[in-house]
Amino acid sequence: MLRLVLLTSLAALALSTDKFTRDDFPPDFVFGAAASAYQVEGAANLDGRIPSIWDTFAHAGNMHGASGDIACDEYHKYKEDVQLMEDTGLEAYRFSISWSRLIPNGRGAVNPKGFQYYIKLINELISHGIQPHVTLHHTDLPQALEDEYGGWVSRKIVKDFTAYADVCFRKFGDRISYWTTMNEANVFVLEGYDTGFLPPQRCSPPYGGNCSTGNSSTEPYMAAHHILLAHASAARLYKKRYQDKQHGVIGLNVFSYWFIPLTNSTEDKIATQRANDFYLGWFVDPLVFGDYPQTMKKIVGSRLPSFTYAESSQVKGSFDFIGVNHYITIYVNDNTSSLNMEDRDVLADMAVQFTRIRNDTSIFEYPIAPWGLQGILEYIKQFYGNPPVYIHENGQRTRRNSTLEDWPRVKYLQGYIGSLLDALSYGLYFVDLDDPDLKRQPKLSAHWYSNFLKGKNISSDGCIELQKNISAVSPYLLE
Ligand SMILES: *[C@@H]1O[C@H](CO)[C@@H](O)[C@H](O)[C@H]1NC(C)=O
Ligand SMILES: *[C@@H]1O[C@H](CO)[C@@H](O)[C@H](O)[C@H]1NC(C)=O
Ligand SMILES: *[C@@H]1O[C@H](CO)[C@@H](O)[C@H](O)[C@H]1NC(C)=O
Ligand SMILES: *[C@@H]1O[C@H](CO)[C@@H](O)[C@H](O)[C@H]1NC(C)=O
Ligand SMILES: *[C@@H]1O[C@H](CO)[C@@H](O)[C@H](O)[C@H]1NC(C)=O
Ligand SMILES: *[C@@H]1O[C@H](CO)[C@@H](O)[C@H](O)[C@H]1NC(C)=O
Ligand SMILES: *[C@@H]1O[C@H](CO)[C@@H](O)[C@H](O)[C@H]1NC(C)=O
Ligand SMILES: *[C@@H]1O[C@H](CO)[C@@H](O)[C@H](O)[C@H]1NC(C)=O
Repeated sequence: MLRLVLLTSLAALALSTDKFTRDDFPPDFVFGAAASAYQVEGAANLDGRIPSIWDTFAHAGNMHGASGDIACDEYHKYKEDVQLMEDTGLEAYRFSISWSRLIPNGRGAVNPKGFQYYIKLINELISHGIQPHVTLHHTDLPQALEDEYGGWVSRKIVKDFTAYADVCFRKFGDRISYWTTMNEANVFVLEGYDTGFLPPQRCSPPYGGNCSTGNSSTEPYMAAHHILLAHASAARLYKKRYQDKQHGVIGLNVFSYWFIPLTNSTEDKIATQRANDFYLGWFVDPLVFGDYPQTMKKIVGSRLPSFTYAESSQVKGSFDFIGVNHYITIYVNDNTSSLNMEDRDVLADMAVQFTRIRNDTSIFEYPIAPWGLQGILEYIKQFYGNPPVYIHENGQRTRRNSTLEDWPRVKYLQGYIGSLLDALSYGLYFVDLDDPDLKRQPKLSAHWYSNFLKGKNISSDGCIELQKNISAVSPYLLE
């Protein structure tokens, strides 16, 4: 369940090498792991927490019967988990606050038990020398606000989100130096409002999945606009009222593929730029330049909300860093024929066709293309004037039923960290969800990452030795 997070700035990039250790990275380079509230906390109906849109989505059967009702029960096991983090050698832990645990109805009184949980978790992390990095919204808007006014499709969200952020800054800001307003803002609007594959599952035919309501042509753009305004409002509040005293930083997180043209045709090169504009530019252009990319304005037309002068000034510059989640590289092929359709969704507006860089679908794991991470960092640096970047997520996926000897994850980590002297993964520990104790078992990659963080030799030979040693190691003793 733990995802590694690499927290870095572009200035820290270094040359590729096969032989590297933790000591090859600057000391202020931070390595950690990441999770989100709904995916790990459990205790979904305990101590005053009420549903978010993600609970609703899971309980409607959209996750093959899975839900975060119990998850890996970090709500009760946070001490054990923080101990594992320390044993592994993690320097940071990125987690999210469940808004409907802290302020169950989305606005109004703070739930004291929710507050206590986060204070205990934060104190535990700090006392073990682990930097807490907090995300305010990770796909889990309080259901009450969705019901009341449609959540992110309404401009009313700006006020409620700012008030929630204010509570977090006021109550936790003396101990938190790293704030992210929104996780994967672009994926949240694409999957939540265009395809309907994520909460709040809004979409319209012929696009998307099984949604009972929504409009794939308009709502993703409205939700995105309100996310930007809400982010900017919260970030401005932080900078005005808290930053001088608390000395923290605040940013927004986006998902980023590395896009490469399928062919060398001019059409595919333009299509690749268009894909970047729609994926990254949608959020990062307003933050850096104060407006949406020209391509989007031209193609989307009146469906794309526009910023007033005052809003543009508020959004522009409202960040200390851009958070990036990166996993894969994709080929882009021009598909401008889709622009002939009426009532287009975002994907039709983007007018591209995506192709995997490896088309062997029998392999579940992501292809290893470490240069993709380098590509996206370089793109952000060139295009947006070298803003600070935190790599919040990067890593390999393996099937849940794979063995503890997760070689694909080790190879991925070795590739990405090695290539950039830089990287991370998810699922370092296996949690058997059928085990009433939800025992944590380290995988090979947890050992690998731990040894790497402790400055030990993490060559392939060392890995084979580690693998042999694994069965002899108690799950809780990583040495
Ligand atoms: C790690 O050990 C391998 C095999 O013993 C050796 O070839 C390699 O140079 C070592 N790497 C480092 C960074 O010490
Ligand atoms: C679509 O959603 C409805 C209502 O939630 C549900 O009854 C139906 O089974 C779903 N259909 C599919 C194909 O998932
Ligand atoms: C989506 O909204 C647009 C603009 O209001 C409207 O023209 C279109 O018919 C709507 N589509 C659906 C499926 O409701
Ligand atoms: C595109 O051009 C580059 C440089 O000439 C070449 O290395 C690459 O293989 C070409 N790509 C394709 C898909 O033809
Ligand atoms: C390309 O556009 C056409 C509409 O002209 C659409 O039917 C098709 O699904 C698109 N292809 C892809 C892969 O998106
Ligand atoms: C993709 O699949 C096609 C058809 O099976 C095959 O001809 C082609 O070589 C494959 N391409 C790659 C990059 O694997
Ligand atoms: C693991 O799960 C996948 C997908 O459900 C299945 O195809 C595969 O056979 C399973 N492997 C094992 C070892 O059980
Ligand atoms: C494996 O275990 C042996 C014996 O406990 C130990 O000396 C060795 O350092 C271990 N290797 C690794 C890579 O942890």
